[in-house]
Amino acid sequence: MKFRLVFAILLSILFLPFCTSTKKGQANAHDSAKPGAISYQKDILPIMQARCTPCHFPEQGKKKMLDTYGAVKNNLDDILTRIQLPPGDEKFMPFKSKKEPLSDSLVMVFKQWKNLGMPE
Ligand code: HEC
Repeated sequence: MKFRLVFAILLSILFLPFCTSTKKGQANAHDSAKPGAISYQKDILPIMQARCTPCHFPEQGKKKMLDTYGAVKNNLDDILTRIQLPPGDEKFMPFKSKKEPLSDSLVMVFKQWKNLGMPE
């Protein structure tokens, strides 16, 4: 029991320098602001195809179309507001929780995409 604990502590001390040096390396490569990290085609469209169909895509065609880069870009503030409302709110999207609400990490993808200047 004791031996295991000592071993674990020794291991963490051994590996700690590696962890910190990797983090530094990433920061130097300015990873955080890498353009193209999040794009409409690669990230936003698949999320919306999973959660905002059929209502905002041509299959249904009655609601406002949000099926193109331009449409999403022009409505991004409204989209961001609605997906972050409490699910019971009448403006909440996906409408009447017909689809699973977007998780915090998916909402984060939309926010980061906005911060990156909404790359296509
Ligand atoms: C089950 C159908 C349905 C789904 C799924 C759905 N919506 Fe909607 N959406 C509606 C309806 C109905 C309205 C109009 C009522 C309203 O404005 O609240 C609407 C309105 C909107 C509007 C306002 C459009 C305008 O007229 O200005 C936005 C923005 C929006 N939805 C975004 C989304 C997003 C983003 C998703 C996916 C995360 C989504 N919706 C999923 C049915 C849906």
